Amino acid sequence: MFETLTPPPQDRIIDIMGLYAADARPEKVDLGVGVYRTEGGRTPVMAAVKAAEARILQAQESKGYVALAGDAGFHAAMRGLILGDAVTPERVAACATPGGTGAIRQVLEMVQRLTPQARIWVPSPSWPNHAAIIGHLGLTQVDYRYYDVDAGGVDRDGMLADLAGAKRGDIVLLHGCCHNPTGADLAAPDWVDLADVFAATGAIPFVDIAYQGFGDGLDEDAAGLRSLAARVPEMLIAASCSKNFGLYRERVGIVLAVTDLGQARAAAAAMLAHLNRQSYAFPPDHGARVVETILTDAELTAQWRAELDAMRTRMTANRRTLAEALRAETGSDRFGFVAAQRGMFSLLPVTEAQVAQLREDHAIYLVSDGRMNVAGLTAETIPRVARAIAQVLA
Ligand SMILES: Cc1ncc(COP(=O)(O)O)c(C=O)c1O
Repeated sequence: MFETLTPPPQDRIIDIMGLYAADARPEKVDLGVGVYRTEGGRTPVMAAVKAAEARILQAQESKGYVALAGDAGFHAAMRGLILGDAVTPERVAACATPGGTGAIRQVLEMVQRLTPQARIWVPSPSWPNHAAIIGHLGLTQVDYRYYDVDAGGVDRDGMLADLAGAKRGDIVLLHGCCHNPTGADLAAPDWVDLADVFAATGAIPFVDIAYQGFGDGLDEDAAGLRSLAARVPEMLIAASCSKNFGLYRERVGIVLAVTDLGQARAAAAAMLAHLNRQSYAFPPDHGARVVETILTDAELTAQWRAELDAMRTRMTANRRTLAEALRAETGSDRFGFVAAQRGMFSLLPVTEAQVAQLREDHAIYLVSDGRMNVAGLTAETIPRVARAIAQVLA
């Protein structure tokens, strides 16, 4: 039977990982895959994670199953980290998932069950896996204007105008912070305007937050999401601990469903646990336990925050240095947006052919849409990358 299978659609981010691995040139620069890297090019295990793992190893006496929705301590710790005190805990149903991707999948599975006719509004552009999962589940996607290429920022008016066309029960996907792939984030007043759109249309916000702490700080990066949560009756959140805890391969994520009533909360919690059961039964525990251990211990939290601050500072500095180098190389300010944006990514205004040229002639790897991971830059590579971009665009 397998010979009848048609090849699955290509994934441009996974594709670029393969091309990079196969390139023998020692000077190659990976700005493609979305993982944090140190100046030395490593994606290290955070010291706070190592310390938490040591404690867990010492204390854990069983590897027995936990619960379909994961551990309640993890739920509470993540609820606090993401929502702060924006809503009362009684309104929030939580469910641990394998990574942020698992959370997105479970949210959309729930939508498919509840309101299969709902349209899923997705910012243009967005992380390609959003569209892939929506399509896989047979849900309907509608793109809304998000990024203004010329301004290097959010097309606020276009976004609000498009979303005014949402219907009751439609789902509007938003990036909590550090928008992937553009690095262009919503400002505080935009979140307030969005709350008005949700009130007017009856659409439901679904916030994907995968980079909390990579933009301006843990609370700063969640401020928009929190202000929205405080203003709307219902909201869905998919969060990832892959980046901010460096737990990529442990697969740590969570769904938070902000509900309007106690009964709705129980129903949402039961459905999410049920959906876990149908897919993989129990979510992975180890990484979630690490996160809980860090967030419930003052000393480990302080250590983790300091490490996260250092990562963010490095990315912001890379942005500034690259923008300056590009200004020097091009004699123009057209790349100023790189310094102004936040998180790991910026979208360079390059064609697919120019991305291929950067790869083939300069051993510089970007995703085919021009997405660049600023964490992959170093003091040594920035001048070369800036020169190559200027050359290719000349
Ligand atoms: C916008 C966005 N959402 C969710 C995820 C999911 O991350 P993971 O499944 O590795 O936790 C990512 C990872 O790249 C992302 O960029």
